[in-house]
Amino acid sequence: MNGKVKISDSLMYTARIMTAKIMKPNAKALQEAAELLRKNDVVGMPTETVYGLAGNAFSEDALLRIYKTKERPTFDPLIIHIAPDESGDILTGLETQGLILTDKLGNTARERIRQLTDRFWPGPLTLVLPKDPKVPDLATSGLPTVAIRMPSHPVARSLLKAANMPLAAPSANRFGRISPTSAQDVIDELGTLIELVLDGGSCEIGLESTVLSIDPEGNMTLLRPGYVTAEAITECTGVSPAAPNASAAPKTAQNAPGMLASHYAPAKKLILLSEPVTQIVKMNQNSLEGIKTLGLLVFGPTSEAEEKFKQLSGKQVICLSLSESGNLDEAARNLFAKMRALDESEAELLFTEPCPSAQGIGHAITDRLKRASH
Ligand code: TXA
Ligand code: MG
Repeated sequence: MNGKVKISDSLMYTARIMTAKIMKPNAKALQEAAELLRKNDVVGMPTETVYGLAGNAFSEDALLRIYKTKERPTFDPLIIHIAPDESGDILTGLETQGLILTDKLGNTARERIRQLTDRFWPGPLTLVLPKDPKVPDLATSGLPTVAIRMPSHPVARSLLKAANMPLAAPSANRFGRISPTSAQDVIDELGTLIELVLDGGSCEIGLESTVLSIDPEGNMTLLRPGYVTAEAITECTGVSPAAPNASAAPKTAQNAPGMLASHYAPAKKLILLSEPVTQIVKMNQNSLEGIKTLGLLVFGPTSEAEEKFKQLSGKQVICLSLSESGNLDEAARNLFAKMRALDESEAELLFTEPCPSAQGIGHAITDRLKRASH
């Protein structure tokens, strides 16, 4: 990087000590956002999963801005978001946009891509496919594959249309931190570094998309669990996706994307309990010395759990429920917001119950809890 870039960058950053504005996604706001994107700037964009930090996927300047703003290492590749397909055939659409090379794909791979995109796009499924060399290496961290998803959120769709370009968009949080699920969360994370966040309300799903790779032979690997479950992928294609290769265990995100051991984490220490609070018999109070208040996330009603945890710990307890009725979709939707709330509360040490199920959406919730507590 030459001196010039650095100078203009530092000017850019000094000009941005103000806080970003949150705009309702009307025509004027969408035009303003599209204009920023055309200038290779970045914009906070709502999606059905979490808020993204969007930039032109084909611009190295925009991609650099994304990495810098998030303080994200460039070895962790980005997901490229595309507008609804108007070509009538998804593979043709992806190739025409300069994203993938279809001649690398065998028949099985083509069939699986068609089945999965028919069923789950637009929506919270990201596909990792052989990339077209036109996609900048910076977007894919030099990998021969590219991650693509077609979001269903109406504001994301409108923005993709208005900007008329594929948008690289990682979650709009500082690297390793809790993903944002509201416009205000984006401001809290990156507010002084960006200009504009489009307000699309609270994210419906609340956990990042499922990431599934499909190789040229059609072999599928589930790289990151999400709302589209392994069971649903199996039902759709007739084949179960493989788990990521354990020997490629993530030292870097490149090996097991989104799969760094510590991720999605609050600033305070979070401990993942091995059983529901009501079943705990005894707690080691020595480890709580000097602490006044504990935070606790539970998967059912708060009252009983809160009382029990107070007795077990001998401390004050701030207890938040992810779903009073124990509904796991609701728990997923609330997970990051409640984690954030405890992080900002006066609790000094945080605990969470384990997810009552490791199946379906429980797989994704358990994955995020493990990483957040690592
Ligand atoms: O729901 C979502 O996917 C959100 C919203 C904004 O769309 N985005 C998101 O992006 O979660 P991010 O950057 O936080 O996570 C993207 C994950 C990364 O961990 C990355 O390693 C993985 O996808 N990924 C990207 N490109 C890949 C590739 N070529 N091969 C394997 N994994 C890849
Ligand atoms: Mg992220």
